[in-house]
Amino acid sequence: MINIAVLGYGTVGSGVVEVIDSNNASINRKSGNDIRIKYVLDLRDFPGDRVEKILVHDFDIILNDPEVKIVVEVMGGVEPAYTFVKKSLLAGKSVCTSNKELVATHGPELIRIARQNNINFLFEASVGGAIPVIRPINSSLTADPILEIKGILNGTTNYILTQMDVEGWEFDKALSTAQELGYAERNPEADIEGYDACRKIAILSSLAFGSNVKFEDIYTEGISKITATDIRYAKKMGYAIKLLASSSVENGRYFAMVAPFMVRSSHPLYSVSGVYNAIFVRGDQIGDVMFYGSGAGKLPTACAVVADVVDAAKHIDKHIYTFWSEEDLHLTGIGDSTRSFFVRVSGNRAEREDEITKQFGEVKFIELDGVSDEFGFVTKPLAEKTFEEHLKNIPNVIGRIRMEEKLNAGC
Ligand code: NDP
Ligand code: HSE
Repeated sequence: MINIAVLGYGTVGSGVVEVIDSNNASINRKSGNDIRIKYVLDLRDFPGDRVEKILVHDFDIILNDPEVKIVVEVMGGVEPAYTFVKKSLLAGKSVCTSNKELVATHGPELIRIARQNNINFLFEASVGGAIPVIRPINSSLTADPILEIKGILNGTTNYILTQMDVEGWEFDKALSTAQELGYAERNPEADIEGYDACRKIAILSSLAFGSNVKFEDIYTEGISKITATDIRYAKKMGYAIKLLASSSVENGRYFAMVAPFMVRSSHPLYSVSGVYNAIFVRGDQIGDVMFYGSGAGKLPTACAVVADVVDAAKHIDKHIYTFWSEEDLHLTGIGDSTRSFFVRVSGNRAEREDEITKQFGEVKFIELDGVSDEFGFVTKPLAEKTFEEHLKNIPNVIGRIRMEEKLNAGC
């Protein structure tokens, strides 16, 4: 029998309890042990709920119970999650978490403490919800240097962009529905402004490159400035707008960024819709490997957390080695990265063409049916810093979105 405690009985925490209850027999068979939830910790009471009798409000009850071998942290946020997790590890209890904010902020330290105590700190659900991607990077893809990671890492924003594009919903309606469906962070600004995707690409990059990628160093733009008109332009060109997170190493220089991109219809990420996420990992010899599945939501995420519990139960006195050094990795700024840009400007195309081509050379113009007071254009590929210098000379810019053209070799 392995006793576990669940910290946080919200969307994911209640999903963890539900998954363990409903799949109990097969989970026990697969872990080679009986997994029993001894405690659930939350701030609230849940009268009449299945957890009523095992609910505690004092973390020390869990910490001081030697029968608890695995702690599941699904409260979210850095504090008190960090304190509870660190204390659990120091007390010899393995920890499984879905909390990317915690992992991105304190991951390497918590991994080291787990290693020193011959236990485990597992965080598969912290990136990509139900998608197995941490474990593959940590084990299946270790033979080959990873050169690039690119993908859609946030379910809420992908859901919002899909609903705006396919159903014509307003941004606010799409966001509130994502919240009702349990996809969004407690403070959805983390989703909308790209911070959540930023933390996730920091985690994946740290594991892939072996040194600590600080999420604060990653250039991050969210989707809050994307409008229904941007989506109309994208559709007219045969593109969709996606929030992409990426990192790569080229000639010893490391890059990472999060931003909305126009993705063409032939691109594999174009049809990743709704709450689904997809992640490309490119290895030197392996080429492209793609991971795809539900990026958020109660039960899909809970399944990833419970799979970590099973893994921790299978390795009760054995640390599963994870390479994520505490040494920080230097990221090169994105100024030299080269790509095309879509730009929207006010005014009449015929009157402004010359001024635009003077700055950017040959561009492709796009006009929307029934719209005469603005137009768009797509530049040739150019360095980010060169683009920004030329853009400064163009008055009345409404907005700009990067174009995703070159991707991994296989795309
Ligand atoms: P919720 O807000 O739904 O649940 C968090 C729960 O933890 C709430 O019941 C909350 O209680 C409780 N809690 C907060 N602080 C404490 C505390 N100090 N002591 C005890 N209980 C506490 O969040 P989610 O379940 O959605 O997310 C949990 C974590 O999983 C987050 O890190 C999130 O980023 C991550 N995640 C979420 C996914 C999703 O689809 N929702 C997917 C993947 C990861 P109260 O409500 O009373 O404050
Ligand atoms: N808010 C996150 C998302 C939850 O929408 O992707 C999953 O990490």
